[in-house]
Amino acid sequence: MIDARHDVGMYGDIKLYAGTSSPVLAQAVASYLNKPLCGRDIISFPNDNLFVKLHSSVRGQDCYVIQTTSVPVHRNLMEMLILIQTLRLDSAARITAVVPYLCYARSDKKDQPRIPITARLVADMIEIAGADRYITLDLHAGQIQGFFSIPGDVLSAFHILADYLVDIKKNLVNPVILTADLGFAKKARDFAAHLDAPMAFIEKRRSGNDAKSQAMTIIGDVNGKDVILVDDEIDTGGSMVQAVNIAKDNGARDIYMVFIHPGLTANATERLSDLPVKEFITTDTIPIPETKSKLFGNRLKILSIAPLLGEVICRAHEGRSVGEMFNE
Ligand code: R5P
Repeated sequence: MIDARHDVGMYGDIKLYAGTSSPVLAQAVASYLNKPLCGRDIISFPNDNLFVKLHSSVRGQDCYVIQTTSVPVHRNLMEMLILIQTLRLDSAARITAVVPYLCYARSDKKDQPRIPITARLVADMIEIAGADRYITLDLHAGQIQGFFSIPGDVLSAFHILADYLVDIKKNLVNPVILTADLGFAKKARDFAAHLDAPMAFIEKRRSGNDAKSQAMTIIGDVNGKDVILVDDEIDTGGSMVQAVNIAKDNGARDIYMVFIHPGLTANATERLSDLPVKEFITTDTIPIPETKSKLFGNRLKILSIAPLLGEVICRAHEGRSVGEMFNE
């Protein structure tokens, strides 16, 4: 860990701000950096308009706004945008939006007539609000980086999850990496390479614009093997429920479910916790309320991204390479 306490970089001192979406993660990042979260008021008026006021000046400072944009998406997004604009108007030297989970990332292309590309709109809004940089994790599609014209660090929880899987691998029988979504196949391959395990794929189709998907077939062999089922996010849980069922139908032994962003909307938690899954392994890019986490009991393992975010903020502040953290 790097001690940023006494460092005043090119853009002044580090000032950490957080919206209300992920207070535990924001505090963990602040603790890593040995910095306080700066005071601010966020007030919601009866007409649903938000009001932000900083408790102290940020003139000439290097400011970071930590805010995940999970449910309630529009409230969380607006809080972040208004916080960024407030910092801009108070003459911050540099503002970085730290967004562990970027909303609307699945709306990334015009693949049917008369639809928007909302991920692009979100990127534009973050820039227009006044962000100079952004930090995010495991974008649903890498090309969303191209929607931003400001520089960013797109990080991955891959190393955190993969190291944990290496730890538990000794207890597994013939582990196989099964990807629940073909869009995640490339990252799934990285897990397979890291664990020196074979791969299998689920072919999934979405017919309409609702959240429903249909798992069709498994490509590859899971029979008699322990399955590590991976995906980038769980929203309604539909994809994972079908994936577990199809894996079991194909003779899978124990199933370990790995997902980076625990959206867990609708009744996903109830559906998933009923499944014959040995362990649910995820991160804290999105907070899981206790009412949900207790349904998983001790089968839920949450790996924190706070040290990763803290280290990247520290390096960004000091103008040092982030790639070298991963030997890149
Ligand atoms: C799909 O494109 C993603 O990789 C996930 O499979 C998807 O977001 C999961 O959604 P749900 O949990 O609603 O099936």
